[in-house]
Amino acid sequence: MSETSLAVAVKKHKAEEVRRRLLSLGILRTSMKVFSDDEYVYFPVNRSPNPDELPELIMGNAIIQEANFNKLTTKPKTLKEAMMGVLDEKLIDLLPRSFDIIGNVAIIELDERLRPFAKDIASALKLVHKHVDTVLLKAGPSTGEYRIRQYDVIAGSGKTLTEHREHGCRYRLDVREVFFTPRLSGERLRVASQVRPNEYVADMFAGVGPFSITIAKMQPSCKVYAFEINPAAYKFLEENIRLNKVEDRVTAIFGDVRHNYGILEGKADRLIMNLPFSAEKYLDVATKIAKPSGAVIHFYGATEDDDAVEAVKVNVSSIIRSLGFDAKFFWAKELKEVAPRKVVVALDIAISVR
Ligand SMILES: C[S@@+](CC[C@H](N)C(=O)[O-])C[C@H]1O[C@@H](n2cnc3c(N)ncnc32)[C@H](O)[C@@H]1O
Repeated sequence: MSETSLAVAVKKHKAEEVRRRLLSLGILRTSMKVFSDDEYVYFPVNRSPNPDELPELIMGNAIIQEANFNKLTTKPKTLKEAMMGVLDEKLIDLLPRSFDIIGNVAIIELDERLRPFAKDIASALKLVHKHVDTVLLKAGPSTGEYRIRQYDVIAGSGKTLTEHREHGCRYRLDVREVFFTPRLSGERLRVASQVRPNEYVADMFAGVGPFSITIAKMQPSCKVYAFEINPAAYKFLEENIRLNKVEDRVTAIFGDVRHNYGILEGKADRLIMNLPFSAEKYLDVATKIAKPSGAVIHFYGATEDDDAVEAVKVNVSSIIRSLGFDAKFFWAKELKEVAPRKVVVALDIAISVR
């Protein structure tokens, strides 16, 4: 479907600059598709700009005329599609290929060159994902003991308390107060599907409970002990245990796992160590929690080494052996895009006392 509209036509080399000015003047009609011929790019506008608003008119570098535009009738399916005609091709290529959506909060990371367009990009993201309210821009890495990060609000109400659904489980959480990543959703399922009936499981760094709760839902006869040191994450962990009706299978324990593992000493068939930057410092605790006759550790470690899997394996293996246990590595994988510049490695390790 096409429609006639007043148009501002400018030479191609001026197009990006003029597009931004028309957008900020609020006169660009975003429901129509911008088009170009050999020389000019045509922008649909709802009124003629004044020469003081668009100096190109004085120089004769812009023309005001009527033109036929295709209407944008269908909702864009991707961020890239939504930004076509808004950003030039070089900038379109810099758009993030993936971003995280946690409940109704979207989190994006932008190349420096896209920062001036952050608000446009956030609006486009909301157009593609209608249920998204707040859009956050990452303002740093996950840091500290609680692994939380800073964000700038670039669209929406700014509310960061949300409810996320994954594998039929529900998680209430505040994105600013706790660690949570939907990028580990596949890992949660992979680990949970290995749990056998009646197992004792230690989720040593549980966060708001996604590993613990997925396991408890998939294997109702197991007993999961979820340790968490961040008071805010612990509060959501308790809430999520109730929300998912797994109170009979999951016990939340507040505080440092190093000082609180006593209840599970020597009992765990399976341990989850999801603290990529310092999990190795807790392998001594893991060997105290593990059943001496045999247990499985799902270990997550970060490294900058080119041969990431081998580097983490060598390190973990020597620590476990020094603690008097044998370690057999039976599965390993690099997890992409979990942490910037570092590779996170997932290892499944069978351990038993030597
Ligand atoms: C990387 S996050 C993982 C959270 C969760 N497993 C997930 O997948 O969303 C690590 C969590 O461990 C908690 N934590 C860090 N050190 C801890 C410790 N010594 N004892 C218990 N929890 C700890 C942090 O507060 C954080 O919530």
